[in-house]
Amino acid sequence: MNSKKISKKIYLEKIKLLEKCNKYYYQKQKPIVSDHEFDSLKEEIFNLESKYKYKDLKSPSVKVGFEPSKKFKKFKHRLKMLSLSNAFSKEDLINFQKKNINFLTFNKDYEFEYSVEPKIDGISASLNYKNGKFVKGLSRGDGEEGEDITANLKTIKDIPLKITYTDFPDEIDIRGEVFIENNDFKKIEKDFANPRNAASGSLRQKDPKKTELIPLKFIAYTFGFSSEMTIDKQSDFINNLNKWGFKTSELNKTIKGIDNLVKHHSDIEKKRFSLNYDIDGIVYKVNDFNLQKRLGFMATAPRWAVAHKFSANYSITKIIDIDIQVGRTGALTPVAKVKPVNIGGVMVSNATLHNEDEINRKDIRIGDTVKIERAGDVIPHVISVDKNQRNSNIKKFIFPKKCPCGYDTIKEFNKVTKKIDAVRRCPDIGFDCNRIAKEKLKHFVSKDALNIEGLGKKVIEKFWDLKFIKLPDDIFNLNFQTISKLEGWGSQSAENLKNSINKSKKLKLDRFIYSLGIRHIGQENAKLISEFLGDYSNFIKLKEKKNIEDLSNIDGIGETQISSLKNFFKNKLNLKVVSSLSEILTFEKNVVKKTEGVFFNKILMFTGKLNNISRAEAKSIVENNGGKIVSNVSKKLDYLVAGEKPTSRKIKMANDLKVKILNQKDFEKISKLGQ
Ligand code: IVH
Repeated sequence: MNSKKISKKIYLEKIKLLEKCNKYYYQKQKPIVSDHEFDSLKEEIFNLESKYKYKDLKSPSVKVGFEPSKKFKKFKHRLKMLSLSNAFSKEDLINFQKKNINFLTFNKDYEFEYSVEPKIDGISASLNYKNGKFVKGLSRGDGEEGEDITANLKTIKDIPLKITYTDFPDEIDIRGEVFIENNDFKKIEKDFANPRNAASGSLRQKDPKKTELIPLKFIAYTFGFSSEMTIDKQSDFINNLNKWGFKTSELNKTIKGIDNLVKHHSDIEKKRFSLNYDIDGIVYKVNDFNLQKRLGFMATAPRWAVAHKFSANYSITKIIDIDIQVGRTGALTPVAKVKPVNIGGVMVSNATLHNEDEINRKDIRIGDTVKIERAGDVIPHVISVDKNQRNSNIKKFIFPKKCPCGYDTIKEFNKVTKKIDAVRRCPDIGFDCNRIAKEKLKHFVSKDALNIEGLGKKVIEKFWDLKFIKLPDDIFNLNFQTISKLEGWGSQSAENLKNSINKSKKLKLDRFIYSLGIRHIGQENAKLISEFLGDYSNFIKLKEKKNIEDLSNIDGIGETQISSLKNFFKNKLNLKVVSSLSEILTFEKNVVKKTEGVFFNKILMFTGKLNNISRAEAKSIVENNGGKIVSNVSKKLDYLVAGEKPTSRKIKMANDLKVKILNQKDFEKISKLGQ
């Protein structure tokens, strides 16, 4: 080969390597080279091009490809970017509305007016405007903290850089969706899995010029923090967005009545694929801002909105086998391994069978022909069995009575429903059962727990199989030298993992409590417990049974949670894990939700019925004004609010302990002061 041929070969090899780097970084989220190595590789390609006048179509000088961009600075969102709860059926919508009617103690026939908007399947962004100028744009990130992608957002023509209307708030975070239209996606589809990925890849380019080359659009639909604004309704806000120069969806409208929502949903679903951008459902928001304020937020989503996802797709396939999976809380979940089928563009090879009762009720057997449904991002499940197709020699499925770890399984008696649970469980509450222990590790590192980037489910499985990890604290003793030598790894990815593990060592107490995966202690309960306890030293005191009882003072923590915590702390291995972790981790001070308000630092309790206000709303008023609610009378109590027909024992105790008793009027008077 002559030297020219050799250099062409090298040039093409370098391009091939660059493509591989891109693939590992963007599609597998596992970089194989450092940023620096990546930049040098590109530089070498450019040099060869200018020297030999080469131009390959896949060259970074031609193709708008992917480029690593881990260098965006992170900023906290002034108001968290939350997600939406999902609804899949009319029944879910009726429930959503009923809950809100109860919360607001409205008449049961009350009809909310909803702002109805398409749920655009893109990437959300929050645009901060100060004095009409677009100053900073953040990605959603983990909802609390996003990446500064201002320069890239500025290349999107739909985003106004300057707004001169006098009624535009002095400071506001405008939120909306960045997406790519389908006809634009067609031009670049070979590079990306779907339009959403394309939008994400483009937005995360290090070089804004590359972002500009992929035509992104922006549709605005809500706001985060805002200074004084005199708008009363979401639909008016959308009209204003339009006036101020933002694009909004042409499908937005206001609707009253569940039947009308369902009709609209089905109309849009029919024309979904003729739209020029992807939508995966319809969002309904209580239109009145005043009601939105009263309804407030749950842990991860507002009470006043819901995303009605588009309905499921179906397919017929055959069950090849039934696997028993053991979850973090010991639940044995049967999973049907099915002959892979394409359902609405996604290949499905697993479908959940929920539990033993479900298998018996539907008489599902290995070898059966079944109808499978896949709705949105929910795990596919078996709807029905076609018994006409059943082979006569197919045997009934016998659900195993033992966990794969060897323990005999149990079915619990549910004190609330007064029925035996449908779920069969492994009784282990520590880390003895290998299956549970592995699931607990996955939970421990997950997004809402320690949030260790690069330590996903697959990596946990691999490290488990290699016996690198067994207990959560093992994660902090990994040998990165060994990891860097594993197949698919390298020194850069091992280094990245090390960094993200180190980063996770500082966390809030509520995340830690949640990360332990204690049954019935989800995010919301972990928050309540963490706020009540204040710091780790009080948390570890829960190893004394009597201190756990104290938690029953928390409004929202009941018998179920107390007994689960007792079980957890009873187990020696759990105690050992908690104590080792406490030596590795640093707990950030609990951010006191409100440092002001008429109930700041006050402890309140309610007894009896309140008029025109639900307990849930009363609780939210107290908390929004800096106070805390408990459910037992003690001398720590500042106010006992007595509604109609209060419990006389509680009134007597409060009197004995000289706790101030308020009636509903007094309570309302004080809380009005706080608004
Ligand atoms: S409102 C607190 N409106 O859906 C509620 N979100 O799961 C904030 N989305 O992250 C969201 N279209 O990316 C809202 N018309 C719309 C939306 C919308 C799409 C996305 C958004 C958000 C996710 C929530």
